[in-house]
Amino acid sequence: MMPDEIIPHSRPSISDSDIKAFVSVLKSGQLSQGPKVREFEKKFALLIGKKKAVAVSSGSAALHLALLAMDVKGSDEVIIPSFVCSAVLNAVNYTGATPVLVDIDPLNFNMSFESAKRAITKKTRAIIVPHMFGCPAEIDKLSELGIPLIEDCAQSLGANFKGKKAGSFGLLSVFSFYATKVIATAEGGMVLSDSEDLIFRIKDLREYDTKDDYVLRYNYKMTDIQAALGLNQILSLEKFIDRRREIATLYFQEFKNCNFSLPVWKEGRDHIYYRFVIKTRNSAAEYLEKFQQKKVICRRPVYIPLHVYLNLSGFPHTMEAWQKTISIPLYPSLQKKEIEKIIAIVREIFK
Ligand SMILES: Cc1ncc(COP(=O)(O)O)c(C=O)c1O
Repeated sequence: MMPDEIIPHSRPSISDSDIKAFVSVLKSGQLSQGPKVREFEKKFALLIGKKKAVAVSSGSAALHLALLAMDVKGSDEVIIPSFVCSAVLNAVNYTGATPVLVDIDPLNFNMSFESAKRAITKKTRAIIVPHMFGCPAEIDKLSELGIPLIEDCAQSLGANFKGKKAGSFGLLSVFSFYATKVIATAEGGMVLSDSEDLIFRIKDLREYDTKDDYVLRYNYKMTDIQAALGLNQILSLEKFIDRRREIATLYFQEFKNCNFSLPVWKEGRDHIYYRFVIKTRNSAAEYLEKFQQKKVICRRPVYIPLHVYLNLSGFPHTMEAWQKTISIPLYPSLQKKEIEKIIAIVREIFK
């Protein structure tokens, strides 16, 4: 790399075999949803340990269909954390249900179990539990609340909670394959469940054509081109996660004397380091600017918390995380020289 080249915050990992898989579908004449999508669904369900999977056009579409399949509607409430991207809020709002925002655990930034428990009312129909930044949330305790869970694994493909895959706990679970996610299909998503009935509804709502009745349906299909890429990316999943953990281990070693808090997680969770999130002493904004000047692009791990968009108060841990956390570049396609530069710049800024 040239000394003044920018290191982006994230970047996809695309191999020659990914390109081959992609091109072979282009040449086959079967571009839209077909056999590759079905194969991707089967392999993905096996990978996570759920009976069935339905591939869709994005993680947002996956969340929307998961809620619709459960018949979530206007009079219902859905609990979600504030410290997550607006896709989660959108999905609830698409259905007309009321989003009920809760605060996070200040240490690992996942939904606070206690806050979720307190937010339950007679109208609560579901809790969406994102496993943030690659680290599983309190999914065992949340599972005991008696409310159906939708696990949002957009950032946590391959993470484990007490030896079980993230995505294998909820009534439904969703994934995203956006370009810079753990595996990529450029845009794409998946919904999983053990319930044949929910899967039937999700498949029905995903496409509108050749239906005998009229109900509001969507075009949320994945293409065979994307599925071929996804299938090939699955072959590299273990390698991607190993590399993420290798870089994280190096960061832990190299940053131990830096003036910030390193990521913390609890026993029994296998973190995949989708993001390496540090907590700074002062406002994140001033550090982001310094990184930008040094051409290492760091970001706030959540752009704007949902309660800020909605003008709500009473989310102290989310507020603090928003003001003081930074995501340092960590992804499998980082080159050795880039990692060395990131380490040097972080140590210089936080000495
Ligand atoms: C936790 C979480 N849920 C849902 C989504 C939405 O996924 P998509 O961008 O594929 O619609 C994202 C995307 O970044 C996410 O991080």
